[in-house]
Amino acid sequence: MESRGHWSSRVGFVLAAAGSAIGLGNLWKFPYITWDNSGGAFVLIYLACIAVVGLPIMVCELMIGRMTQKSPVEALREAAGPAWSWIGGAGVLTGFIILGYYIVIAGWTLRYVWQCLVWTINGFDPVQAGGDKFAGEFLTNGPLQVLLTVSFMALTMAVVSRGIGGGIEKAARILMPILLAILALLVVSALTMDGAGEALGFLFTPNFAEVESIAVLEALGHSFFTLSLGMGAMITYGSYLSRKDSVVRSASTVAILDTVIALVACVIMFSVIFSVPEIKEGLSGSKSPVGMLFVTLPTLFYQQVPFGNVLAPLFYLLVAFAALTSTISMLEVVVAYFIDNKGMDRVKATLVGGAGALVISLACAVSLGAMNLPSQVTLPLLAPGKSGVLGVLDHVASNWLLPVGGFFITLAAGWAISRKVSEAELVDENTPGWFKYGVWSFFVRFICPIAVGAIIVAVIVGKDFS
Ligand code: TRP
Repeated sequence: MESRGHWSSRVGFVLAAAGSAIGLGNLWKFPYITWDNSGGAFVLIYLACIAVVGLPIMVCELMIGRMTQKSPVEALREAAGPAWSWIGGAGVLTGFIILGYYIVIAGWTLRYVWQCLVWTINGFDPVQAGGDKFAGEFLTNGPLQVLLTVSFMALTMAVVSRGIGGGIEKAARILMPILLAILALLVVSALTMDGAGEALGFLFTPNFAEVESIAVLEALGHSFFTLSLGMGAMITYGSYLSRKDSVVRSASTVAILDTVIALVACVIMFSVIFSVPEIKEGLSGSKSPVGMLFVTLPTLFYQQVPFGNVLAPLFYLLVAFAALTSTISMLEVVVAYFIDNKGMDRVKATLVGGAGALVISLACAVSLGAMNLPSQVTLPLLAPGKSGVLGVLDHVASNWLLPVGGFFITLAAGWAISRKVSEAELVDENTPGWFKYGVWSFFVRFICPIAVGAIIVAVIVGKDFS
């Protein structure tokens, strides 16, 4: 077996883990659910969920990875006992599923980079950018969907096959600074727009009368997805962390970066949207997150945003980069399992893992309208009211697999691993002063399992978080 790779430094790790966390969840899903839940109060609830549940569980995952230096199945077996290793196995399965459908949407970002370049050069075409063309021509174009999906998978595999230092970390070191720079440029431009004040007010003025209590659970569910928790991705990334790097410091840096970027994405999108009153009205009735990122924004960039010609292609490049550093982390979970448990070398593991996930991706890609049969897929018990492969898989993964995985991971860290071991792992001379082991332990043993248990119960009684 090849020797295990390591991050070259803490910065390398933080960029890779932040790359995993920052993705379509931040740029596509969070703005949409924040819009849907009327902003301010929901944002506060979400921040509380990240601090109270997300961050402690991120510490659990990184800790289990770093202490065992193993991928999830073996890491849980060694850290918590043989009875826990199945959680790692379930995580690998979840990795296949999420990678399978996520990469289809990630593929769309490639089309928009290309399309925006064409618009910038040849002039914008509002009809082509409209929702009818999106649903009627783009989604139903099977060969194009397949091409985009396969291309994105190929990019992901190319990075993962090169290993930790030379592949994943290197990609993060190149892509993440560019991503942050584009985002900074966009936010400066957004803040000069007429709608900026209203956007900030919408995001940061809480009005609790506007949120339904179920929003708490929606915010919790999203905090798993956005921090890449619940399926062992952070266990896997933690397993390449060296012992001298503080788990707590790394986890909090990643959680803060992820949160700031989700908020910045909202400031950008809402400033644009609030600058055009008709769009605002139209959106408040719409239920489609797809529309905001892939239909509303392209039109606004070209018709409203100063320097939109330049910023539009850059924006989709940013979304593509964010998605890529996330798909890399999902594939890495699967690949690390094949390497550690099936004795494959990295290249073979990448080929097998990528090809396996591609089967799911292709089913999603052609079920958007290109072929009729797969769009009939339904799963009434687990995903009531959902149809289509992509919708059903997203529902099952976000509503069931991640919360259940996260639930057991906290139990493993809080109850199966002894306090002496976890304290020695978390508290050393690099641990930041604000970290109190006793507080973390209380959260991980009681608060997190209860909160996550509440999501699962809510899902059972019928609430959809996808
Ligand atoms: N966190 C990423 C996002 O917000 C998605 C992601 C990457 C993920 N790896 C994951 C989600 C592992 C769940 C589990 O887009």
